[in-house]
Amino acid sequence: MSSQDSIAWAKPALAGREKEYVEDALLSSWISGGRYVERFEREFASLYSVPYVLTVTSGTAALYLALRALGIGPGDEVIVPGFTFAAPVNMVIETGATPVYADVDSSTWCLDTPSVRESITSRTKAILAVHLYGNVCEMEALQEMARQSGLFIIEDVAQAAFSRYKGRYAGTWGDISCFSFHATKTIAMGEGGCVLTSREAYYTQMHILRDHGMSRDKRYWHDVRGYNFRLTNLQAAVGCAQLERIKDIISRRRQIYGWYYRHLNDVRGITLQAFNPETEPVVWTLAVKLDPAFFKGERDFVMNALSCVGIETRPGFYPFSAMPLYQAPRLPVAEEVAGRIICLPFYPDLLEEQVALICGEVKKLSA
Ligand SMILES: Cc1ncc(COP(=O)(O)O)c(C=O)c1O
Repeated sequence: MSSQDSIAWAKPALAGREKEYVEDALLSSWISGGRYVERFEREFASLYSVPYVLTVTSGTAALYLALRALGIGPGDEVIVPGFTFAAPVNMVIETGATPVYADVDSSTWCLDTPSVRESITSRTKAILAVHLYGNVCEMEALQEMARQSGLFIIEDVAQAAFSRYKGRYAGTWGDISCFSFHATKTIAMGEGGCVLTSREAYYTQMHILRDHGMSRDKRYWHDVRGYNFRLTNLQAAVGCAQLERIKDIISRRRQIYGWYYRHLNDVRGITLQAFNPETEPVVWTLAVKLDPAFFKGERDFVMNALSCVGIETRPGFYPFSAMPLYQAPRLPVAEEVAGRIICLPFYPDLLEEQVALICGEVKKLSA
């Protein structure tokens, strides 16, 4: 395969009105805030049937604002999954709170509900539910647990935009939820994110923190120290064009998952991420767990071999216990899945023959 034919791990689909809207934003001279930002917030809120959506510069900024709006800080504990991208954990630490690592479920790779229950202490303030790779945590059980123990729930929906659980969107179960619009995500603006909530008080607090901490009624007056986490009109213009095609983007993702499933579901040594029957995922990336007994060499060998034939992949996230920075406890399932997962190419423009080729190359590497 020539480098021209190589298959990227992720790629934004920009074939709609993205260019037209960005040009329009440029010509309007509104390149910081502007009407695309307002439009995106309005339309996203309407899609999710929630009153408040606030766009921000990234999913990481969204997480930080959510934690701060809930008053989380030094002395508090926040339960996080032991297997996730590090941004939610980093932001908990950034507030001065302590992350408490719960293990993940061995088949869904999302928070293990019994492990969350065991992690609750008198200092626990919130559960940070990360919906991994498009899957959704067991939100009903977590919600009930949070209610009984007086905890907040923050949902990290960066990887699961438009996934549903029990008919309800991921992102509408918790107190505040956080989305990322990074170039690889289901809505891709380059960089960007948003917070979503039904509570006006949280929205107001996050709005103030997003805009330098400045009073919303009195310019240049500060009651709190804030940040500049504002999304630009140019990014929002891209986002508005993507929202226009969101049904197509979702159905393409579902179709591509179906192709992968057909090729890989029954292959010995490969385990696909399991979805609860009540979950309707919008898969973000095709994560598979490789059983070393059936694959020639370690996971890195498989990734290198695929790279040599022009197929880009990503490894699973490292367990926090492996990174000295986090001083995290060892968690058996998180460690097992972390070392064995690889993520295969997944984006709306991927073709059926490319999926067949990728799966064929993966199968060649199995013993
Ligand atoms: C689960 C999760 N949370 C948060 C983030 C952070 O989002 P961003 O890159 O937009 O800051 C990411 C990014 O990939 C993510 O995967």
